[in-house]
Amino acid sequence: MKSQHIKLSVIIFFLLIFRIVNAQTDFAFTCTPFLQNMQDGEVTVFWEVNRNATSWVEMGQTSQLGTNVISSKAGMIDIGSGIQKIKLKNLQPGQKYFYRVCSKEVTSLTGYSASFGNTIKSNIYSFNAKPQSPNSFAFLVFNDLHVNTENSGFVSSVVNKNKDINFVVFNGDIVNDYNNESDFCKLIFSPFSKGFGTEKPSYMLRGNHETRGAAARSYYKYVATPTGNFYYTFKWGNVFFVALDCGEDKPDNLYSSYFDLADYDNYRTEQAEWLKEVVQSNEYKNAKVRIVFNHMPMVNETINTGSYEDHGLNDNSSKFLSVLNNTGVNLVLSGHTHQYKVYPKVNSSLSCAQIVGGAPFNASKLQSTTYTKVQITDTLITAKLFNLLSDSPIETIAWDLKNSTDINNISGLDNQLSIRGNNDSIEINSKTSAKIRVFNTDGKLVVENQVYAGITKLPMSKGAYLVQIESNNKVSTVKVVL
Ligand SMILES: [Fe+2]
Repeated sequence: MKSQHIKLSVIIFFLLIFRIVNAQTDFAFTCTPFLQNMQDGEVTVFWEVNRNATSWVEMGQTSQLGTNVISSKAGMIDIGSGIQKIKLKNLQPGQKYFYRVCSKEVTSLTGYSASFGNTIKSNIYSFNAKPQSPNSFAFLVFNDLHVNTENSGFVSSVVNKNKDINFVVFNGDIVNDYNNESDFCKLIFSPFSKGFGTEKPSYMLRGNHETRGAAARSYYKYVATPTGNFYYTFKWGNVFFVALDCGEDKPDNLYSSYFDLADYDNYRTEQAEWLKEVVQSNEYKNAKVRIVFNHMPMVNETINTGSYEDHGLNDNSSKFLSVLNNTGVNLVLSGHTHQYKVYPKVNSSLSCAQIVGGAPFNASKLQSTTYTKVQITDTLITAKLFNLLSDSPIETIAWDLKNSTDINNISGLDNQLSIRGNNDSIEINSKTSAKIRVFNTDGKLVVENQVYAGITKLPMSKGAYLVQIESNNKVSTVKVVL
């Protein structure tokens, strides 16, 4: 009886082992879908499987789906293990689409025979196609996540809190490095897909850390852009976006960092030449708003300090800023320094505003971990910098597109104080008391005034001014043009 019991235990043990081993090798998705690069009438879906497969997307305007979309090249439908990538085309503007991703294992393929394993299908998800000339839309920008499990949760919770956004921009240094191709799904697609990426599209930019690691040269397989390059442009409504690729931070010839494998100075020159053509294009010139993403700031205190670690910053600034300045850029969004800072529009070397996001996420640095939300309407652009401690922005800058003057709700005083430039005065509409200092563009103080609740008009001659507002121990500076 006892020996029979032992035999039965041994059989159960081996059955369990067989089941575990078999489960580990089952054909399966290793991440759920992640939408990228939404353009007029199209969006690209990424997902990953653990074995060689051929894939398709089932989609339709109802959850009944009905249309199969494949990806093929030169007449051959794609087969591959790992990342699966299919572009959905001919989408109706603003239309809601339902979809699921499907993969069929290809177990062998010879010249005259093929055999297949199981077919797997994801859950059904939905997304809204890019609207035609949207009058108003919003997006979130994250930078320097240097991703780990903690901050991927942070990103998803922020996105889910902002239901009104249309897309997400990852402005570089999403990870520390890519040493294995599996890192892309493990660190980006999988966590962000679960959080929001099956429904909201993302636009990806490289930071300097995206260039590091054995798998960094495979990054292009995991990113969709309109051109296939990591620098590109796209439009939403009357907003023209430019995405730049900053390259590495140290000099290319620093062997201890790049092992004679870096060519970023030439790469930035190549982009600057491309950028010259962009700013001359009718689309750029005719856009009402121009927003530039670049992981490295165009203006920063460390620029021109001569430190070898700032070589990339200097090269970005000298090559890109000289092309962009005075071409009507409204806003540059960047990161890299891990120290958040908002630069007002008036600056001796930058003819537009710049927001440098802070980061990376760290439980002890909630104050300095930031994200930016940009909302655009026919008449107003509002860019708000938030940290994790409050639903009130650290700082807000805004542009009145209708009157070509600047309106600003001020740091920590959201909706408490606004400033408008009229023809012959600076008008402050405040619900609280604040100290106002007005500087000319040379930095000379021209007016100092205490304002209280109500409207205060400061008569001024025509020109551009920096208006500094001090209230509740916070100081913010905004530009007003008369
Ligand atoms: Fe960086």
